[in-house]
Amino acid sequence: MEIFSRIVGTGRAMPGQAVTNAQLVKQLAASGIETSDEWIRERTGISQRFIASEGINTSDLAAEAAANALQAAGMSAQDIDLIILATSTPDMIFPSTACLVQKKIGASGCPAFDVQAVCSGFAYAMATADLFIKAGKAKTALVIGAEVFSRILDWTDRTTCVLFGDGAGAVLLAADSKPGILGHRLHARGEFENILRTPGTVSHGKATGHPFLTMDGQAVFKLAVQVLDSVAREVLADVGHQVSDIDWLIPHQANVRILSATAKRLGIDESKVIVTVGQHANTSAASVPLALDLAVRDGRIQAGQRLMLQGVGGGFTWGAVYLQY
Ligand code: UT7
Repeated sequence: MEIFSRIVGTGRAMPGQAVTNAQLVKQLAASGIETSDEWIRERTGISQRFIASEGINTSDLAAEAAANALQAAGMSAQDIDLIILATSTPDMIFPSTACLVQKKIGASGCPAFDVQAVCSGFAYAMATADLFIKAGKAKTALVIGAEVFSRILDWTDRTTCVLFGDGAGAVLLAADSKPGILGHRLHARGEFENILRTPGTVSHGKATGHPFLTMDGQAVFKLAVQVLDSVAREVLADVGHQVSDIDWLIPHQANVRILSATAKRLGIDESKVIVTVGQHANTSAASVPLALDLAVRDGRIQAGQRLMLQGVGGGFTWGAVYLQY
């Protein structure tokens, strides 16, 4: 009997209050950085983002999202036998944020580790969890995407600092004979590592390199639109489905123009695309599970519908997970 990984609960967590474009424009103006609500909305579709206050870390947001997913699934932390957390903004170099979350939610004993694939992290984490479940190595997996990207932004660089936000989304996957995750594809092209990166680390007790996010926005934009189209088609071909079988497209939430262009290339009506970049901005690994949870809780996503989840970002990495909800 084929084993599938089925989503049995979703959850999310946003830190504090939303920071609107108008508030951000004012704050940046105070330090001589010129931008506007019109530019941000027209070029990206972003209206607001959430910024974690000092003392709130990735593991705090992740643990809250996980608790909400557990509650939605009617499960307890003891039921979890695998934790995979996608982040590029871990609480510390080690232990992994997944281990910190394990402790915070009261789970113990199961394997827990982080994956680092930047904005593709959630797709990488879901695909990995699915392989554990299909191999019979786990029955209930907690998969989380969580970030405090505000901590790696250069707040004097208007070309990047207006684009990102903090947050976390979580999914519980359970082994089931009913479908579930139908297929996935992951990719990376390391030769493009320099178009989106945070090229710093800690060495001999000091931050080294340039520990702030840098991006060639146009290069990322062009690649993103190409690969989000191609990877969706690859996964559909793997499982013998058509674009018309997709009920909801949930791409990484980086820019509303990327979402529209992807829908157009795939030939999917924009009404079938879940768009949350306006309210959350780009939350990297958290963006897809945040959008998923929001659309599950507002009733748009219904049992039996087929979802195409897609990530794309630094590395350069990308991937897609196609599933029946
Ligand atoms: O999560 C990982 C994936 N990340 C992405 O997918 C991001 C992909 N890239 C993008 O979303 C877009 O390329 C951006 C939103 C980053 C930029 O949009 P764009 O249409 O490519 O703008 P641009 O970089 O060509 O900049 C246009 C102009 C420039 O001025 P000049 O040189 O034409 O005079 C910029 O200096 O806009 C200027 N600009 C700004 N103006 C006001 C750049 N940032 C700002 C700003 N406020 N915040």
